[in-house]
Amino acid sequence: MYRDHTCGELRISDVGKKVTLAGWVQKARKLGGMTFIDLRDRYGITQLVVEADAPEELVTKANSLGREFVIQAVGTVVERSSKNPKMPTGDIEIKLEAINILNESLTPPFTIEDVSDGGDDLRLKYRYLDLRRGPLQKALQLRHRICHEVRNYLDSNNFLEIETPFLINSTPEGARDFVVPSRMNPGTFYALPQSPQTLKQSLMVAGMDRYFQIVKCFRDEDLRADRQPEFTQIDCEMSFVEQEDVLNMFEGMMRTLFKNVLDVTIPNPIPRMSWFDGMDKYGSDKPDIRFGMTIHEVTSLAQGHGFGVFDSVPYVGAIAVEGAAGWSRKQVDELTEWVKRPQVGAKGLVNIKLNEDGTVKSSVDKFFTPEDLKAIAEAAGAKTGDLVLILCGEKRKTQVQLGTLRIELGNRLGLRDPKVFAPLWLTDFPLFEWNEEENKWDALHHPFTAPKPEHLEYFYSDRPEDILKVCANAYDFVLNGCELGGGSIRIHNPKVQERMFQIIGIGPEEMQRKFGFLINAFKYGAPPHGGLAFGLDRVCALFGGADTIRDYIAFPKNNQGRDIMLGAPSIIDAKQLDELHLDLRPVE
Ligand code: AMO
Repeated sequence: MYRDHTCGELRISDVGKKVTLAGWVQKARKLGGMTFIDLRDRYGITQLVVEADAPEELVTKANSLGREFVIQAVGTVVERSSKNPKMPTGDIEIKLEAINILNESLTPPFTIEDVSDGGDDLRLKYRYLDLRRGPLQKALQLRHRICHEVRNYLDSNNFLEIETPFLINSTPEGARDFVVPSRMNPGTFYALPQSPQTLKQSLMVAGMDRYFQIVKCFRDEDLRADRQPEFTQIDCEMSFVEQEDVLNMFEGMMRTLFKNVLDVTIPNPIPRMSWFDGMDKYGSDKPDIRFGMTIHEVTSLAQGHGFGVFDSVPYVGAIAVEGAAGWSRKQVDELTEWVKRPQVGAKGLVNIKLNEDGTVKSSVDKFFTPEDLKAIAEAAGAKTGDLVLILCGEKRKTQVQLGTLRIELGNRLGLRDPKVFAPLWLTDFPLFEWNEEENKWDALHHPFTAPKPEHLEYFYSDRPEDILKVCANAYDFVLNGCELGGGSIRIHNPKVQERMFQIIGIGPEEMQRKFGFLINAFKYGAPPHGGLAFGLDRVCALFGGADTIRDYIAFPKNNQGRDIMLGAPSIIDAKQLDELHLDLRPVE
């Protein structure tokens, strides 16, 4: 037996017990003839002590211990003379009688403590060491807890956990596919699932009624703090449901998760907002509703005063920053430069200050009377002491720019407290969006999303203005400005599905080749169905109060999509290429 207690469990009530612990040496230090060792395992840290008068062999051994040595320690629990109230085991220490070195360790390349001195890439290279650190141990424990609660909730609601294959065909979720060459079928490739969308729908046709899976998805897209090339979804689908049934079921799941994992009560019901309101008021399809500073259209007030910049565009919008009228010229100039960065893309920023002394000051004083400026500021929701920031241009683009500015100001002003949770359902999405680069319609969610029944007339129309009007019973679960999940009521009629592919420019041949199986399945009695998927990594990060999902994934990729520990992706040898019937072009 290696141990009879963990390093996190002994307390003052255990004083006098003879115990055996096993774990890693976090650090060992000598103090006035005694040696103190912090012994760590997943459960905590316990202090071991070798007294000055201990047998020489034991003292020598204790002094030979290096960081991260794995040891077994035998001793008696004693009360500490100087207690450490910050540690759960801080009232006691173990007076050692024997040390057994189970394995030595090289000096680790960075300190394995809660705050580490290692850079990102170094820590990813030695991920197995980084994972020994407290915050990462906690992160993976949180992930486990969330998965456990999800399974309990869905099981108690009659969902079946069913696995679906990874070696499949393209599933259109808007990213590039990762592909795998087939040795047995020369010249052909599998695509890894961007999501199990078509498979879960097939399971509904198969009569499974309620399905879920905690499943890996693969998307070759640009990486960000909340995106990994392989990530995990809590993927769900239900038969014989309308939007309201799906929202209620998963509102219940999120409520249970918040309560059981964080002991947080979220609003009941969770507020809802249409996609159009999200864009108009927050400039975002994932509004952060923890703070105000909403967008107001001021086009009619801003135009007709001879200011060409405003007069020549279809939309002028503004936000009011509370109490910021006193911001210096330098601060406002810096913000102006900030909105001009390519990531935001605005051409300039107009401001109005409603000064505390009642005066009005603006960067466009020349064109507007103080009364005009005041009217614009008030329309933007400003009061005395506030700063109004104005952008103009094409409507949706400008709203998105204002939305980006709003989030930046929210960050700078500390309005986005990670301990405050503001969930939101975003509903009533348009079914299509115009793809300017490719000059075609795209499905805003994915092409299996059903048009609202009352919009079928527009769906079958050939006029672009009608196509734009088609909305879907689609919904996103948004938390604190992050899209945690999304789904929809699906098409279950083969004719509607064919029309969908026609609108987004997938011809009959491609449709048959890629999705023939699903359209066929719909011809054999498909039940009405709908569902959604949550991004598990994002749920974990938000629950943990982090802004990147990386810490909640045991072995994540870096920003270039590389696994630095494994050295993946890597070249493969000529024999393998040959077996796969592949020739490589030289890399430019
Ligand atoms: P969607 O594409 O919206 O929907 O994905 C669902 C959720 O998955 C998470 N997510 C990601 N997380 C980390 N890294 C990524 N690269 C990444 N991409 C997506 C997000 C997102 O909300 N089949 C549909 C769901 C459905 O309609 O049922 C789908 O995949 O949190």
